[in-house]
Amino acid sequence: MATINDNYLKLKAGYLFPEIGRRVSAFAEANPNAQIIRLGIGDVTEPLPQACRAAMIKAVEEMGDRHTFRGYGPEQGYAWLREKIATHDFQSRGCEIDASEVFISDGSKCDCGNILDIFGSNNSIAVTDPVYPVYVDTNVMAGHTGEANEAGEYGGLVYLPVTAENNFTAEIPAQKVDLIYLCFPNNPTGAIASKTHLQAWVDYARTNGSIIFFDAAYKAFISDPDIPHSIYEIDGARECAIEFRSFSKNAGFTGTRCAFTVVPKTLTAKAADGSDVDLWKLWNRRQSTKFNGVSYIVQRGAEAVYSDEGQAQTQALVSFYMENARIIREQLSAAGLEVYGGVNAPYVWVKTPHALTSWEFFDKLLHTVNVVGTPGSGFGAAGEGYFRISAFNSRENVEEAMARITDKFSI
Ligand code: MLT
Repeated sequence: MATINDNYLKLKAGYLFPEIGRRVSAFAEANPNAQIIRLGIGDVTEPLPQACRAAMIKAVEEMGDRHTFRGYGPEQGYAWLREKIATHDFQSRGCEIDASEVFISDGSKCDCGNILDIFGSNNSIAVTDPVYPVYVDTNVMAGHTGEANEAGEYGGLVYLPVTAENNFTAEIPAQKVDLIYLCFPNNPTGAIASKTHLQAWVDYARTNGSIIFFDAAYKAFISDPDIPHSIYEIDGARECAIEFRSFSKNAGFTGTRCAFTVVPKTLTAKAADGSDVDLWKLWNRRQSTKFNGVSYIVQRGAEAVYSDEGQAQTQALVSFYMENARIIREQLSAAGLEVYGGVNAPYVWVKTPHALTSWEFFDKLLHTVNVVGTPGSGFGAAGEGYFRISAFNSRENVEEAMARITDKFSI
């Protein structure tokens, strides 16, 4: 008789976003005339930049000609894209990242989960709370945790609470942990990390032989010049950090799929016999075995992000969403709500009014003003009493949603 991976049975209910989708669909079915505005999942709404579309159309034509047709590409991604990324995103900011250390993939979410393939099952793991649920759930699936308690906290994980009291910045843990997930600009709180804060993490990781998984999927939304864009801007990070990046949010690739992960060749971790093993080699081996690369067409689209037009067009997209974030922040604030984030990140993190729980506020918003957000408790126990509003939507929808919310929920 076939058996299952029992770790899946430890997972709490559904993955957060499908669960929200389920509740919204049930509401929409019962209220077919409701004009629902979705500011829940951070999914982009604006069309792909023209430079990316033109590059992909040209690539499709190449695929239609036997002289320029391409079959399997390199599993790690085409050199021309990896080189552009290394130059524009890292070397231009003083980070010593070589193109060969950049692995192109179909998404940061996938890579954040897949990276666990190359790590042992006995590592102690730290996550912030609240946190992007993928980090936790993939560790549950891999059998790295115990069962969840009532609050949804899994045995065996080290939770680092981030709340208004600590300015949404996790304290460096007193105990030793082996793997640490950090996400900046932060999903869901919209918080950012200073150079000093990241240096403290890098120093901690180097002292303890830990590896930091640094999720920088929202890096394009940083406008403050003092905030690091990459963990590799921090001294010593090449010895302790893997970075995840994405074209989803800056170039509107959520449906097109292209991202990349940086694994420096200087990174090592211990084998069971105590020897140091090169993580780049393991990740390269993993990708070559389990992945056949991102399509040529999509990689050409991603490459176009680095052209002059691509840079201008993606910057315009980012500015558009950040103007939405400003509107959300300012209007909710003026209505008396306590708001955080939304300055260097496309997420606004709101304290729920009248001591409502996160899901109570979710249901109230959905039922009274037909606006969908994301309950903070879905990101972890310390997110209870908070609510995330995404800036990814049309201007019209954002303005309409804010008018509806401030009309009914002003304090
Ligand atoms: C979110 O809403 O948190 C994001 O859409 C998650 C993701 O990009 O996978």
